[in-house]
Parts: sequence; structure tokens; C-alpha cells
Amino acid sequence: MCGIVGYVGKKHPKEFLINGLKKLEYRGYDSSGIALENEEETQIIKSVGKIVELEKKLQEEKSITATLGIGHTRWATHGEANEVNAHPHKVGRVTLVHNGIIENARELRKELEAKGVSLKSETDTEVACALINEYYEDNPIEAITKATKRLKGSYAFGILLEGKDKLYAIRKDSPLMIGYGEQENYIASDIAAMIQETNRYSLLKEGEIAVLDPNKVQVFYEEKEVEKEILESNLKEDSASKSGYEHFMLKEIMEEPTVLRNLISRYEDKDLPDLSQYDEIHIVACGSAMYVGLVGASLIEEKCKKKCYVECASEYRYKTVLYRPKTLVIVISQSGETADTIAAMRKAKENGVETLGIVNTETSTIARECDKTLLIGAGVEVAVATTKAYILQAALLSLIVMKTVKDEDALKEMKQIPILLQKILDEKEIFLDVAKSMYKAEDAFFIGRGIDYAMCLEGSLKLKEVSYIHSEAFQAGELKHGTISLIKKGVPVFAIITDPAIADKTESNVMEVKSRDAFIYTITNTEEIPNHGFRYIVPKTSSYFEPLLVVPTLQLIGYYTAKLRGLDIDKPRNLAKSVTVE
Ligand code: AGP
Repeated sequence: MCGIVGYVGKKHPKEFLINGLKKLEYRGYDSSGIALENEEETQIIKSVGKIVELEKKLQEEKSITATLGIGHTRWATHGEANEVNAHPHKVGRVTLVHNGIIENARELRKELEAKGVSLKSETDTEVACALINEYYEDNPIEAITKATKRLKGSYAFGILLEGKDKLYAIRKDSPLMIGYGEQENYIASDIAAMIQETNRYSLLKEGEIAVLDPNKVQVFYEEKEVEKEILESNLKEDSASKSGYEHFMLKEIMEEPTVLRNLISRYEDKDLPDLSQYDEIHIVACGSAMYVGLVGASLIEEKCKKKCYVECASEYRYKTVLYRPKTLVIVISQSGETADTIAAMRKAKENGVETLGIVNTETSTIARECDKTLLIGAGVEVAVATTKAYILQAALLSLIVMKTVKDEDALKEMKQIPILLQKILDEKEIFLDVAKSMYKAEDAFFIGRGIDYAMCLEGSLKLKEVSYIHSEAFQAGELKHGTISLIKKGVPVFAIITDPAIADKTESNVMEVKSRDAFIYTITNTEEIPNHGFRYIVPKTSSYFEPLLVVPTLQLIGYYTAKLRGLDIDKPRNLAKSVTVE
């Protein structure tokens, strides 16, 4: 996904645009740019790489006088990450930034080029810009309406139109919000970009067109002006700062005990969905959110004796799904804007199936469209690799299960978990030592069975997405059916063993790889599991809570490994915090 900002007001836009883009850099950071506009001219400055590169350019190039501007930080979808493809794009009298994918860009490009329109970039965005320009004579609303009606796919646009000293915005499937200031107004993909200026905002809804000038915000739907509710965000300004930590990822891991305690007190006395009311549960998500779904499914089946399917949203949205009469579809998403997960949620709703959202971002599409949404309250998670959100999603699923089966003892025990987790984080240097022993590895494996395997998936993803070490999670019993051929001397193998019922089975799989000279790192909850090289023992708890103690150790191993490899931990290459495109 990409990040969009826009400004119209009494000040020069540059400062707000750059600071806003920095707050949105987690959304994508292949390239970035800003456009400044005044009555005479439009100035566009773009650069490849992170915002700091754009800042350098802005110091070199004199900016024009302006009180109107837009900015963009990109996660490339169409066309490589270079300056030509960077946003903003300008065609004729229209300058535009875009978050989303225009799926019919190719045919529109052919139509425009047949009319003699010359497009410089490979992007779908420039096509959209040119189309608005085609329709733009002197009525902005009409031009934007006519052009966007022809677009298929997703978009959030920030638009400047020559001859108009206003900022325009429209969205479909990609988030965009309006910020209200004093003699200045803003647009941004996420409230975090504007929180320093204002906590007053509105969410632009599908198809609404916003028209902003320094003293007024108008919003139109189907060419009629609509009233917008002004909301107040309680986002803390410092949540978008590292608060003394070297990286957001470490900060957000260290916040886990606190946000976990907050989640427990938020929900311990609340009614949560009673899973016993349903015939079947589907958990649908992407990436880490799906992996936490596997943890939840293991508990749902073990404790509630309910069939629970976990599917990745990109498959679920297109496959034939057999819904039983009383199915509950749980969609899990930190951002609440992941395109595939939104599509899966909408598929369930189209089939008349009840949807429950487990979401971090209150203003997000999933949070708004699910029949019921439970917010995890993790606060802003800036690091692209999710950590605290994963822990809270897992904790909330555990709470739903505990309340369904009325496990009062477990509900009491849960209050201890933040304390036990804090103790683990207090000795985080142990995991720095682990990282020192394996950060030069080319491959790594995580093995476990059942819920331990679900944790392996997350541990493996954390390691590979921030350290770029190739890593695979394997069902411990499955490794010997082929992949064991990759085990060679010194290959790090992480064995997660917390389930006593199958501990000895996983232990024999450990011996299989140890006998082939792998280096074994065991994360377990009992002294009974031997130390074959490295062993870390988390406190033994009910099965609800082991993931809340084991996974943070794996998050720290991933973090320290990436740190030792000198990588950009908070913004790993090729990634974006939320993938709002297919
Ligand atoms: C997690 O570390 C990854 N960045 C990624 O797998 C993420 O979990 C996935 O893209 C889903 O995002 P969401 O929770 O915002 O829907």
C-alpha cells in the first residue's frame, strides 16, 4: 500500500507533507514525492528510496511559493521503483497521488494514447490522472466523477487542479481521511500523519468527493453536498515516535505486557461472542494474522469442540466456500485495510454469513463493515513486522474461547500473563546471544506440532521478513518427508515444544535433525525437554497462554538477527505494513 497526504492552508505545505509522509512511510517506501501548486505553476519533486532522500532533494531544489500541496510514499505495484513512476503524477492540468490499483489501466491507457495523450510512466496512476484531465474543463466535481466512474479497482486520490486553489480527494476501497485545522485542512491515508496538527477528522466514504480550502471542507456524493461527522482521535502523538528505542519493532515488543494488560481489563468483564452458538467457524486473514488464526483454531477445536477452518484470504475470496447454516467468519487484521481480507469479509457478508472482525485500526474498512468488531487496542504499530498486534489478536481469541467454555480458572490465570511476559522481555539479551550464534545462517527451520507448529509459522515469518534469512516452518513430523535433505551441518533448527501430549514426538524429530548436525534451539515450557544446544524455558501455563510467552521470544530472535545483519528493521525491503492491493 502507499501513503497519501495533502495540505491546503495558511502555511507552506512542505513541512506538513514531509512530516506526514514520514509518519506514513511504514505503508510503503520504494519512492516518494510532493507537488506544490500556486496560481502560476505546479512544482513536483520526487525521489527513489525513503523519505530522507526526498528531504535531501527538497534542500537542494528551491520550492515555489505555495499554500496547496500533495505528497505520496509508494509501495510499487505497476512499474518499478524509479523516479518516473514515483508519485505525484501530472498530466495536463491535473496533478494526482494514488493509493490502490486500477485494474483496467491497460485498456484506458490504449484509449488515451490513441487520442494522442502521451504518458511517461508505467503506472496505473498516471492513466487515472490523464483520464481526469480528459474530462476536466472547468467543473472539478464533474471531471472527477466522470473519470472515476470508468475506473475499475481501488483508489484513494489526492488531486490538484490548475486554476483551482483547492485540494480534492476521492476514495474507493483504499482509506482516506480529512483532517480539520485552524485556517488549514488536510487529507491523509492514516490519522497518524495529521495527529500533530489535529485530532479532528472525518472518514471519506466510498465515492464521496472532498473539496478542501483553508477555511472550508465540503464533501459531495453523487454531486450533492453531504454532512460529514467530525470524529476525535485519541491517538497519542508520541505513539508515532520510538520513545528512546532504536527501532519501532523493539519498542512494540516491549509494549506487549502493557497492551496485553489493557486488553485483559478491557474485555475480562465484557460479553464476547459465544462460539457454542455456531456450527462452524472460519478464520480468514493474511500473513501473521492468519498464523494467529491457526493458534486460535487450535484452541477453538480443543476447548470448544467446534470445527474451525483457517484460510488465507487471497485463496478464500476466490474458492468455493461451503457455508453451514450457522457459520461465523472471523477476519483478523491489524490494519483493517488488507485487500484480500476485506474481500473475504465481503464474500461472507454477500453469503449472509455473520462476520466478526478482530482489528487494531478502529477507522479501518474491516472495523466498519464487519457485523461485529472487537478492537485489540494495540495502539499504532509502525514497524512493518507485526509484534504486539499478533500477541493481542492471540490473547483476544483465547479470551473468546475461555468465555465460551466458561473457564473461570483460566480467566484468573490470564492476569498473570503480562507479568510472566515482562520477565521474559527483561532478559531479552538472551535472544541477542541466540542471534549472535546464527545471524550469518543462510537457512533456518522452525519445527513443531499442533499449536506449536502455528507458533513456528509466526517465528519463521518474523525471522525471514526482517533478517532476509530464508526460513521455513515445518510440521515436525513432516520434515523427514523430503525437506530434511536441506539439513546440513550447523543449520539452525528452532524446535517449539509446549504441548506435553506430543512433546516426545517432536523430541524424536529433533533427534532426526540433530543426527544430521543441525544446531538445535529449543523453546519449551518444561525442564523435561533436553537442551541440545540452546534451550529457553518459558513458564508453564494453560495452553491458552503459551503462544503469548513463546512468540515474543521468536520476535526478539528475528529482531536481533536483523539488527546484527545491519538491516532496516522497521521497513524491510519490498514490504508494506498493510497490503491494500491484491
Ligand atoms: C506481519 O509481520 C506481516 N507484515 C504481514 O504478514 C501482515 O501480518 C499481513 O500483511 C496482514 O496484515 P493485516 O494484519 O494488517 O491484515
